[in-house]
Amino acid sequence: MRTIRIFILFSGNGSNLENLYTTLEGKEVVGKSGERAKIEFVGALCNNPEAYGINRCHELGLPCITLPHQEYPTREEYDIALLKALFLYEPDYIALCGFMRILTPRFINAYKCINIHPSFLPYHKGTNGIKDSFEDKEANFGGVSVHYVSEELDGGEIILQEKLSKAPFRDLQAFENAIHQLEYKLYPQALQKVIEENL
Ligand code: GAR
Repeated sequence: MRTIRIFILFSGNGSNLENLYTTLEGKEVVGKSGERAKIEFVGALCNNPEAYGINRCHELGLPCITLPHQEYPTREEYDIALLKALFLYEPDYIALCGFMRILTPRFINAYKCINIHPSFLPYHKGTNGIKDSFEDKEANFGGVSVHYVSEELDGGEIILQEKLSKAPFRDLQAFENAIHQLEYKLYPQALQKVIEENL
């Protein structure tokens, strides 16, 4: 049976990394043609040596590379190092799990890259999607979007997304917790959908 190889990029806490791994590692999927394949997480890479997610990788037994971006003067040079680091893993997909770096076209064009963003895109792009949507008086919702990575920040084609009404949440923390729960539901669904559609 064919193996679909996933490589994860992350920068911080790594809760989506852990959730993707525990939900999908070893799972069998069936494509439209009837072809079967098994999902395998082949490794992870983090640009931040202090990230808690590195501990999660160790506990999961997922090989993790640390590649601090400060050591590279330009995005282009960092992405070349990234491509070299990933090459031997031969990934079919790159899943971004809170990877807080803009990727250059050189990287994006080399792999199918998928990202999760904690808002109902195209609303509330950027690094503070949860806070921005919670504080936006014009919107009574936040949400979660899983999308392909394109050259436009948080702008690629949507794979799956869901709105979350702000009404039940009295504070940002409660809203944020609910957004993360929605992420843990949506990201594995979206990744599996993409794999099955392309099998
Ligand atoms: C997640 O909420 C993810 O959606 C967000 O970073 C968090 C990472 O949490 N990503 C972005 O904002 C991308 N623009 P985690 O490290 O616990 O998975």
